[in-house]
Amino acid sequence: MKKILVTTGGGDCPGLNAVLRGISRAALTHGGYEVWGSMEAFNGILKEPSELLKLSKKRTAGIHVRGGTIIRTTNKGNPMAYPIKQKDGTFKVIDRTLELAEKIKNEGFDSVINIGGDGSQKISQALFERGVHIIGVPKTIDNDLSATDRTFGFATAVQIATDCFDKLVTTAESHHRVIIMEVMGRDAGWIALHTAIAGGAEICLLPEIPYSIDKVLGVINGRYTKGRGFANIVISEGARPIGGTVVGSEAQDDDAHVKLGGVANLLRHQLESAGCEAQVRSTILGHIQRGGTPMAYDRILATTMGVKAFEMVVSGQFGQMVSFRNNKLTAVPISKAISEYNYVDTDHYLVQAARKTGVSFGD
Ligand code: F6P
Repeated sequence: MKKILVTTGGGDCPGLNAVLRGISRAALTHGGYEVWGSMEAFNGILKEPSELLKLSKKRTAGIHVRGGTIIRTTNKGNPMAYPIKQKDGTFKVIDRTLELAEKIKNEGFDSVINIGGDGSQKISQALFERGVHIIGVPKTIDNDLSATDRTFGFATAVQIATDCFDKLVTTAESHHRVIIMEVMGRDAGWIALHTAIAGGAEICLLPEIPYSIDKVLGVINGRYTKGRGFANIVISEGARPIGGTVVGSEAQDDDAHVKLGGVANLLRHQLESAGCEAQVRSTILGHIQRGGTPMAYDRILATTMGVKAFEMVVSGQFGQMVSFRNNKLTAVPISKAISEYNYVDTDHYLVQAARKTGVSFGD
């Protein structure tokens, strides 16, 4: 029996369980392989004793319809920069990748499938360079990996955001209000852009296009006559005004990143200070976009990516990541996948179509 170790790392995402089931089922169908999950990304295998979960047929039955990940995840404890708490409360960062590579070997694993976003795939590359037979599976609701046309979880996040946006339109219309809805999207505004088109937003503000408050106010004023009118705005958490910075709180202790959130409130204050006559309200969707049942599209993409990852293990395509390109599942070198980020190109056809259907980007 060959043993495969599977990990889910970084923020969770609808579809992770479907990938786990896809790998497990494909391995069972093929025969000769056992699939094990490491609890909370690589933290599980690094522990003494290791915390592992056998991804048997019984354990994975029916999990494809569930959000989250049965083997849990974390964005703490990156083995490349592992934080160790000192006596004085400060953190010392050490590289544990070599130790991790050895632990994987010593526990009898022939290969690893690491399901995660940009940060997780950097770990995959580091392990590959230390001799680990590793395959990457891309994951992010932000759709910000350039090496794949789509990541599972994104469609579900857009659907959740669009459903919420639709609800905010009816209340904005009833009260003649401006309602700002903040969605996830740290560096790339794909969720906001898709939601703006699907929901028919008047204004869409993205990390890639810093906004002018005067322009935003101009669009709002154009929608109001004699106190009548309404406007709905969708804004990415990573958006910022021209010359301004993103809104969030600094990373603390061993947290992986700055916690973004609150730019919708900033925009509300900016509009009020700039003399916006309409009442303004703001709603921050936050993690609701990452929870719950994955849409059928994401279940299918995730399941087939799991099957592809297993096939890549069998054919020895290590150091490669599964990619969905031009309607086909293919493989790309992880080193390439982590070298380019998928920002919204301001000439992208979706940006152009949005502008032509009356969406302002506040620029
Ligand atoms: O990367 C995906 C993402 O959902 C970002 O859009 C968001 O900024 C971040 O994760 C939130 O991470 P956390 O769950 O650590 O708050």
